[in-house]
Amino acid sequence: MPTWGHLGLQDSASPLMEQLIFFHDHAMVVLILITTLVGYMMSTLFFNTFTNRFLLEGQTIEIVWTVLPALILIFIALPSLRLLYLLDEVNNPSVTLKTIGHQWYWSYEYSDFLQVEFDSYMIPSNELPENGFRLLDVDNRTVLPMNTQIRVLISAADVIHSWTVPALGVKADAIPGRLNQVSFLMNRPGLFYGQCSEICGANHSFMPIVVESVSVNSFLNWISTSSEA
Ligand code: CUA
Repeated sequence: MPTWGHLGLQDSASPLMEQLIFFHDHAMVVLILITTLVGYMMSTLFFNTFTNRFLLEGQTIEIVWTVLPALILIFIALPSLRLLYLLDEVNNPSVTLKTIGHQWYWSYEYSDFLQVEFDSYMIPSNELPENGFRLLDVDNRTVLPMNTQIRVLISAADVIHSWTVPALGVKADAIPGRLNQVSFLMNRPGLFYGQCSEICGANHSFMPIVVESVSVNSFLNWISTSSEA
């Protein structure tokens, strides 16, 4: 989760988020190289006194400064497309979670099991325990098994919301009348925090998401005690 002064991406909890971080770093390296080169050229141009009064064209340099940026863009575009398609891929999910955005809370349904559904509200600051995270902790966490392919179906009941968990690399809009889908695999246990990411009204800031990643056995334990049937 993010802590004070933390400006970078959160530590990944899924292989695809790890890849996203690698891609971010790759893009940053390209960015730094371009900024340095352009900065150097601009400063030399500024400080020297060469004037080319009779210069009309330079075919060679024009070819270079057209083709070079195009090549650089390809080196960013191809890994970007690879990730885009990888993130959209749903490979045989073992668990399906249905999440519905409401003003202003999330409700969850575990459709693979009998009658497991609940609402998840933020814990208000005045009821927060000593070790709680303000504006982030919820009364009912979304418990999911780790090392398991998970599919999340996302929709909304009133206005558009957005279900987001940065550590898992997932974000999808919850749109009334539409079912969106994300899929991920958690490679470690832990609590992964997220917030609604679509301006949805007065309490938009107060409908966080907490995914609790546990072992498959603990998950089955939890689901059997939560099941009402
Ligand atoms: Cu729900 Cu913003």
